[in-house]
Amino acid sequence: MSQSEAEKPSNSILPRHVAIIMDGNGRWAKGRGRPRHMGHQAGAQAAEVVIESVARRGIPVLSLFAFSSENWSRPQGEIRRLMDLFRRAMKQAVPKLHENGVRVSFLGDRSRFPEDLQVKMGEAEQLTAANSGLHLNIAAGYGGRWDILQAARGAAQEVADGRIRPEDIDEAALGRKLSLSGLPAPDLFIRTGGERRISNYFLWDLAYTELYFTDCLWPDFDADALNAALADFSERERRFGGVGREGAESLA
Ligand code: IPE
Ligand code: IPE
Ligand code: MG
Repeated sequence: MSQSEAEKPSNSILPRHVAIIMDGNGRWAKGRGRPRHMGHQAGAQAAEVVIESVARRGIPVLSLFAFSSENWSRPQGEIRRLMDLFRRAMKQAVPKLHENGVRVSFLGDRSRFPEDLQVKMGEAEQLTAANSGLHLNIAAGYGGRWDILQAARGAAQEVADGRIRPEDIDEAALGRKLSLSGLPAPDLFIRTGGERRISNYFLWDLAYTELYFTDCLWPDFDADALNAALADFSERERRFGGVGREGAESLA
């Protein structure tokens, strides 16, 4: 299939927000008799291709899970390689993203990252803050439980300061303190690498997200694979707890 054909979704129902767990780098490398970090390197290249495809399709928000709060438990050597990859992405990918009008945000607890990377994350966000193209979230040091916890702590602090009452904390108020505040919740979740789990990604925000799992290992995920996920999404009927189109018709 040609590049332009691959980028045509099968119909026009596009998600406004796609959230991806980029999993399977280690197994991709192992399958080639290479060290795990080679898989992460190939994974970073796949991410660039997917970011470009998503932007070209006009999907407004993309969130990529790059490093979870639990990934700090990996061997030091692997973490060091991953930090080096982040550094390289900051230097090479961020200027390109900026040129293409992409706005970049980092979601997660940055405090455990090396200081130079924390600074670079802030700089990338500042540089791209006014861009009006794709909004790209990189979840790094992110955990869904951490996110809910920091929101709850923020709300508790406001109560303690006498600024709000406990009964003022509703879904909207707590939602405003979460990392995805101000953005639509993910419509489509994609996990590569064959595991059927959420692994502490956006726990609050995935409440009504359509889930799509593929055995494709992340470094092999490309425009065609994205197209397959989008085509699958466009055939889902979302009911959000209601009765849907057919239910409504049968009552008429
Ligand atoms: C995902 O690939 C990348 C990160 C979690 C940083 P993995 O490293 O988890 O690859 P597998 O799951 O071991 O194959
Ligand atoms: C999820 O993958 C996190 C990222 C891809 C960044 P993991 O490989 O860490 O998830 P588990 O351990 O298989 O659940
Ligand atoms: Mg994994």
